Amino acid sequence: MKYINVRTKSPYQVLIERGAIDDCGKFISEITSSRKAAVITDDIVEKLYLDRVLTSLRCSGFYCSSYSFPHGENSKCLDVLGKIYDFLCESNITRSDIVIALGGGVVGDITGFAAASFLRGVDFVQIPTTLLAQIDSSVGGKTAIDIKGGKNLVGAFHQPALVICDSDTLKTLTPKILSDGMAEAVKYGMIRDESLFELIESHTPDNIHEVMDELVYSCIDIKRIIVEHDEFDKGERMILNFGHTLGHALEGWHNYTDFTHGMGVAAGMCMITDRLADAALAERLRKCVERYGLPTGTDIPMSELLPYCSKDKKRTSGSISYIICKTIGTADIVKVSVEEFSRLMEG
Ligand code: GLY
Repeated sequence: MKYINVRTKSPYQVLIERGAIDDCGKFISEITSSRKAAVITDDIVEKLYLDRVLTSLRCSGFYCSSYSFPHGENSKCLDVLGKIYDFLCESNITRSDIVIALGGGVVGDITGFAAASFLRGVDFVQIPTTLLAQIDSSVGGKTAIDIKGGKNLVGAFHQPALVICDSDTLKTLTPKILSDGMAEAVKYGMIRDESLFELIESHTPDNIHEVMDELVYSCIDIKRIIVEHDEFDKGERMILNFGHTLGHALEGWHNYTDFTHGMGVAAGMCMITDRLADAALAERLRKCVERYGLPTGTDIPMSELLPYCSKDKKRTSGSISYIICKTIGTADIVKVSVEEFSRLMEG
């Protein structure tokens, strides 16, 4: 078992172990005196893992209830949030009980926000079952739902009380969902760790599972350091958004349908590196991204993407912050006007 201690205002541990979900009851019983838990998941993860999680919780003496909603980004909305509140009420969840998010990023984000706001804050545990959720969204305390005005526009910082990563769950991911997470892994290598980048570029989607625990550990540990320095996203944490300004624009242009977040981030990283870093680095990044079946650019004209960039949350009063890696393992935050950004990307 690998452990990472995250020293945020409210500190917690991330546990990484193959098969960990079968012991989740034991791990969770160590961080709470309550024996009442509400598990929230989606219809896909429910079929794969819910019984195992409930069995483990019950073996450790928990009284449990569960709620499942349809999978996909469309569920990260006010309507489903309302249903989760109703479920927590019906389950008699009090402030000393535990809410558990079992699933990918959508489940973690909406459950985390429900836990942050229900009764003004209930402890919650993340059991992320996708690579993207394990290495990014389950750690760091960002919780949110989407509204008509945009993605993740309503949310709260609410750190989990525990994160349980079972890398065996990643074996059931489709190639597309695995690649979705690999884009974020490439990002961590690019911004902070050349040896992680080398690990990724020397493997393929077929054999990356052999080094998955090491990969998950390295990515989460990079995120831990950044989040400990800047828990509330006022400065350094922004480097986690390498590739995301254009990535979010691409996701938005595709209407958040079958174009994944990772596809956007991969294309966004390659496009900004192509424009602003040296050709050899851009080529190395492009090859790595291609290995995992991810896009390295887009045919969509920049004039169509820019309106989506300026809707991005990272835009503040007429400016856009983008991240650039001039060498592998280092990242800088650059703030420019929207006009300057469009000149850079169109030029
Ligand atoms: N996913 C970016 C962050 O947690 O700041």
